[in-house]
Amino acid sequence: MKDDTIAVVAGRHPHAHYGAVNTPVYRASTIVFKTFAEFEAAADEPAEFRFAYGRLGTPTSASLEEAVARLEGGAHCRLAPSGLAAITTALTAFLSAGDHLLMTAGAYGPTIRFCESILKKFGVETTLYDPLVGTDIARLIRPNTRVVYVESPSSGLFEVQDVPAIARAAHERGAIVMMDNTWASPLFFKPFEHGVDVSIQAATKYIVGHSDAMLGTITCTEPMWHALKKVHRELGQMAGPDDIYLAVRGIRTLAVRLARHQENGLALARFIGTQPEVERALHPALEDAPGHALWKRDFLGASGLFAFSFRPGVTKEALAAMLDGLRFFAMGYSWGGFESLAAPFRISRYRPGTPESEDRWCIRIHAGLENPEDLIADLEAGFDRLRATS
Ligand SMILES: Cc1ncc(COP(=O)(O)O)c(C=O)c1O
Repeated sequence: MKDDTIAVVAGRHPHAHYGAVNTPVYRASTIVFKTFAEFEAAADEPAEFRFAYGRLGTPTSASLEEAVARLEGGAHCRLAPSGLAAITTALTAFLSAGDHLLMTAGAYGPTIRFCESILKKFGVETTLYDPLVGTDIARLIRPNTRVVYVESPSSGLFEVQDVPAIARAAHERGAIVMMDNTWASPLFFKPFEHGVDVSIQAATKYIVGHSDAMLGTITCTEPMWHALKKVHRELGQMAGPDDIYLAVRGIRTLAVRLARHQENGLALARFIGTQPEVERALHPALEDAPGHALWKRDFLGASGLFAFSFRPGVTKEALAAMLDGLRFFAMGYSWGGFESLAAPFRISRYRPGTPESEDRWCIRIHAGLENPEDLIADLEAGFDRLRATS
């Protein structure tokens, strides 16, 4: 079965739900049993009774878990109430006091902050590594390194990591590999074919796809499942039924939406790359992007999120003139929805310690599903305002 078919069929069992095509919203805390024997069995062997208590799962959550696990190519999946909750649950499941964690410096900021605050408090040491480290990761792995965490491409600067090489080095030394695979979605990068053991999606982004719900998914291989399931349960993680349903709904159209996000993203990045004020478009599918050869080797496509850096000399006022007048690009911190977004930042936000001479204003663009000609005309007018204000 091809991915676009899996997205449509996986996790749907209409005849278990009176013929309803997509799995309906189940709202449940209490779930009742017909007999004392069933009641007792549910308490003794809760793993076999997914629907023993609302917090442990409902047919709605099981539907999404099945679809995401199938699409990402993992054995099992669990949900969390946000992408960040999925990340912290996964890290908590596989790290203990005295362990060492290798975390890409290109990870989503709150992921790094969790490591440096909460994991540290519980006795886990974190080392940040250069996302473009490649096989040199081997030199950083210590006897107590338990997890090597990748996020590819990196948040903000979109460097593509050599995930298979990192995974080989980690596995040879007894560490596991965890990945934030949100940028590619389950369609454009297959983590388990590249050595990843645990893969996370901020389903808030492309899986929900409509900027109206928050959710995270954690998918893993069979050997990782016991530890993940246990800790997920012990932490009491469960997302709300409506948010899960919005993801169950969103995933059915993921393939067609992603194709358009990809097309629009590339059209915008190519246009932006021709502007004289632009130093570099940071889009993994463009040839001069950091790690482009790895993207070409390992990824099946590019989503609609990328950034570009301005040449030195662009002032904050000029940037404001460009951004404040945009019609179709709102300023927002999220991405993955149907609408286009533009988010200004400086390189130093993602790489603290960047020397002033190398720091630049950048804009992160999320290419939505609007007509690309409208989007390009909007950006063109934005560059005109930037020029007029410079
Ligand atoms: C790459 C990445 N991972 C994880 C997250 C966290 O997801 P959530 O906002 O659902 O917690 C985000 C949010 O922006 C993200 O960009």
